Amino acid sequence: MRKKTLILSALAAFVLFGVLFVLLMPQDHANTMSDAMPESITLTPDDRAVVAQGRLVYQGQCASCHGDNLEGQVGWRDQLIDGKRLAPPHDETGHTWHHPDEMLFQLTKNGINAMLSKPYPNNMPVYKDILSDAEIIAALSYIKSQWPDETQAIHDQINASYQQNKH
Ligand code: HEC
Repeated sequence: MRKKTLILSALAAFVLFGVLFVLLMPQDHANTMSDAMPESITLTPDDRAVVAQGRLVYQGQCASCHGDNLEGQVGWRDQLIDGKRLAPPHDETGHTWHHPDEMLFQLTKNGINAMLSKPYPNNMPVYKDILSDAEIIAALSYIKSQWPDETQAIHDQINASYQQNKH
């Protein structure tokens, strides 16, 4: 029992050190890291070339879970498998459009856990070693291009207020 507490404390200290290190690291140093965010992320649902590329990325990498037509997995609202949630739809019936571009990008690239302060077992893959930043942006731009105009307009506003509050 004691040993377990000791190991847990060591682990906690280790995690805390890691968090402090990342927080205190000078900005230009952070930018040289491979996981660094590009300057700013903007989806381009009106760029036909990007959307066409994104459609291919989506069909190849995302459709198996999120559905060929962005419909998500049956039962996504109220069912769990091994305590984990099912893939939600990416059309306007889901909540993908509630999140600003940067969050969608970050979540797809580095995974849900990278965005949360505590571990959260989930079935969403981490794409940083599978897709380039441009491919992730293209897939998300394709997703946005499929939303009705009014949903896209609300999402533009979500992006604008997110950018304002960031500074
Ligand atoms: C192996 C199945 C699987 C694949 C493949 C997959 N996802 Fe997911 N995705 C999930 C699951 C499950 C969730 C919900 C996770 C949770 O909340 O626990 C999710 C959640 C998300 C969310 C958050 C949605 C929201 O409303 O909060 C985004 C964005 C997302 N996925 C994008 C993608 C993109 C883009 C791809 C392809 C590049 C992709 N996913 C491929 C399973 C998958």
